[in-house]
Formats: sequence, C-alpha cells, structure tokens
Amino acid sequence: MGRIAAPYGVKGWLKVVPLTSAPQTLLSHPHWWLRKHDGDGPWQQRRLHEGKQHGAVLVVQLSELADREAAARFAGWDVGVPRAALPAAVDGEIYWSDLVGLAVRNRQGVALGKVVEVKEFGAHPVLRVEGEDGAQRLIPFVAAYVRPSMSAPVASTSIGSRTTRMRNVRIDVVTLFPEMVEQAARVGVTGRALERGLWHLRVWNPRDYATDNHKTVDDRPYGGGPGMVMMAAPLAQAIAAAREAQRGEGVATPRIIHLTPAGTALTHARVMELATASSAGYVLLAGRYEGIDERLIEREVDDEIAIGDFVVSGGELPALMLIDAIARQLPGALNDDQSAREDSFATGLLDCPHYTRPEVYDGMAVPEVLLSGHHEQIRRWRLAQSLARTRQRRPDLLAGRTLTKDEARLLGLAEQS
Ligand SMILES: C[S@@+](CC[C@H](N)C(=O)[O-])C[C@H]1O[C@@H](n2cnc3c(N)ncnc32)[C@H](O)[C@@H]1O
Repeated sequence: MGRIAAPYGVKGWLKVVPLTSAPQTLLSHPHWWLRKHDGDGPWQQRRLHEGKQHGAVLVVQLSELADREAAARFAGWDVGVPRAALPAAVDGEIYWSDLVGLAVRNRQGVALGKVVEVKEFGAHPVLRVEGEDGAQRLIPFVAAYVRPSMSAPVASTSIGSRTTRMRNVRIDVVTLFPEMVEQAARVGVTGRALERGLWHLRVWNPRDYATDNHKTVDDRPYGGGPGMVMMAAPLAQAIAAAREAQRGEGVATPRIIHLTPAGTALTHARVMELATASSAGYVLLAGRYEGIDERLIEREVDDEIAIGDFVVSGGELPALMLIDAIARQLPGALNDDQSAREDSFATGLLDCPHYTRPEVYDGMAVPEVLLSGHHEQIRRWRLAQSLARTRQRRPDLLAGRTLTKDEARLLGLAEQS
C-alpha cells in the first residue's frame, strides 16, 4: 500500500509514498507490515505510533525505529496491511490481491491459466498469468472483465504491497439535455475511463416523465418575477428511476447531488471524498431556467454543490466538471496515476510550471535544472516553484500548512531568484 522513501528528521521517522487512492486509510491501521521491495523475505510487523499526511507523502513513526540510522535501513521497502484488516470490498470495488488465484479465460472460453501477480504498469494494472504448462502471459487488467461470480476473495490472508482498491463509480444525470452530457462525457480522460469500465453513466430526461401533451417540465414562478422554474413531479420521477436503476446494480443508497450556485463550493477534498466513497453511486441533478422547485430539493437532495461563484445557464456543465474531476481520480483512468497525485491542490499546493520541446522557444530557454537529468535537484526546483506560486497566487492554501524547514528554505530561495 506504500513505499518507504527516506528517513525523515533525526528521530527515526519515515517518509512514505502511499500507493493507494486513499492515503489516509493507511494511517488508520495500528499495525503496518514492512518488506524489502521485490524481496521474498518475511514481512516485519511494526506498530504505527504516529503519522500525518504532508502533501503527497505520509510521515510516520513506527515502533523500534529510534533514530535516523535505524529508519534509513528501510528506505525503498514496501508497506503492506494484511488483507483481513481491510474493509470488505463493496459493490464495484476489487482488491488487487483478490485477483491473485483467479482463473483467466479468453473470449473463446479457452483457459489461459491463473493470476499469480498483479503489477502496476502504466495505464492498466497488468496480470501475470501462469498457464498449467508453465507458460507466462502479461495481460492488461480491465475491471469490467471480472465477472461477479469470479470476484470472491481467493487469497484472503495475503499481504500485498499493491493492495489498491479498484472502484466502479455509478453516475446518473438527470438533465433536459441528455445528449450534451453523453457526448461530452465520452471524450478524453472521462471517455477512456468509461471504456475501461471504471465508471458508468446513464442519463434521464425529466421530459420523459411529463404527463401533459406538451411534455411540460417548467412553469412560471409563484410570486411573479422573470423566468421559469423546473417543476417537481417530472424531476421526482426521473430521480426515482435513477435510484431504482442504481439499486438494481447494488448501490443501496445513491447520493442525490444538486448542482447549484447556492451549493457548497467544490474543492479537491470534496472530489476525493466522492471518488473514494465506499458506496459510490451518484445521481446528479442539473437545473435549467431559474432553477428547481425548492420542495423537490427538500424532499430528494442530499448535497448541493457549486462549481464556483458565478452562474452558468444550466447544470450540465457543472455536472460534467464534477464527473471529470471524479473520473480522473479513479485508479487506472490516467495513463500515469502519479500525475493526478502531483496536480494542483492534490499536494496542497499549486502545480509547478511545465516545459516541453524545443529547448529555446522565441528566445526563451527552458530552466537549466530541468535539462540536468538530476532527479533530486529537479524535484526540489519543482517544489520551490510550487511553493512560490502558491504563496503568490493562493496564499490561503498555505495558511493552514506548516512548512518544513526545507520547504521554508526552498521558498525563500525561489522568492529571492
Ligand atoms: C441560470 S442557473 C440558475 C441560477 C439561479 N437562479 C441562481 O441565481 O442561483 C440554471 C442552473 O444552472 C446550474 N448552475 C448555474 N451556475 C452554477 C454553478 N456555479 N454551480 C453549479 N450549478 C450551476 C444550476 O443547476 C442551475 O439550476
């Protein structure tokens, strides 16, 4: 579930890079198991005394590690948690370790062997499959290929350094413009994640539930004033149909989310909460005109989310923004999962500037350090740029964060240059 990067400070603390989509869950386990990376030695159990998240990494103190020298011996080791200590996988989730031991067949039904290992590899996790004759195959893993009957835990006591949870999020959108949502969701990262079966989309048009000949879904506001208001009844029926469909797929209580300027501002933290929730089924309600009859909101809606302090003409684009933000956080959605971890806000900072070829563009050269090939210097330069940018453009993000001595020094240097 993580990899020890380096000792931290002089008192035996460790810096750990989480390899799970929900790093905080690692801190909730009182015991960790450590093993040399790629080694086949025994796992060593340590008690977690203290730990906190520092941007993209965790800093932790484990039992029996009293000083920097003792901690340094574990640099590069894997961190695991026993399978039995992890919560049961809910609908749409798969623990990688549960894939080990499953039988693999091709589309023609021919048995190819059994999964002996799951490896992290670019866009997809890759299954190492061993045939009865000893033949080895590497097969990209797509969650949609696992049949429900196959997903029963097989290696229930194994400890995995890659025990990442895979999750299928179900999103239904109630909208007067279903084609707009359908089309936009099917391109780019969200489209690819859809194809990979990481999330599922269905759209519902309240007009299909209108009862009069004109298929009316809006009416004038009581009390007078400009514009029209969306009527409660057709929306209630569309939501009921979406709820029912999600229930049929195992989401007991889908959350009904109304996109509205009057909602709580959408943040990275909120996106992560939605992307990693254990029961990930959402019905997004997109308004039009002046908005939706308040009684429908009172009766049906669980959350209200705003995408910013401005008004757009309908809830479709806000819904699509929320969908995109969630989808790119799902393991396997991006070609390199690390990139979402380094994006703005994920580390609590704004992202650093990026450069690509040519080396000199219109008389402007790429910063020299980026051409040096020196990974540690590049990492420090990027961190310094992120810190300086954040202080300049979004000082509010730094307000709740105590900079480490090194970060403070890097920020000072970046601001002097
Ligand atoms: C023209 S707006 C209605 C604005 C509403 N009268 C108000 O002032 O709050 C129509 C629909 O667009 C969506 N919408 C507009 N701006 C939004 C925002 N900032 N965040 C989320 N949804 C928004 C909502 O679904 C809303 O019902």
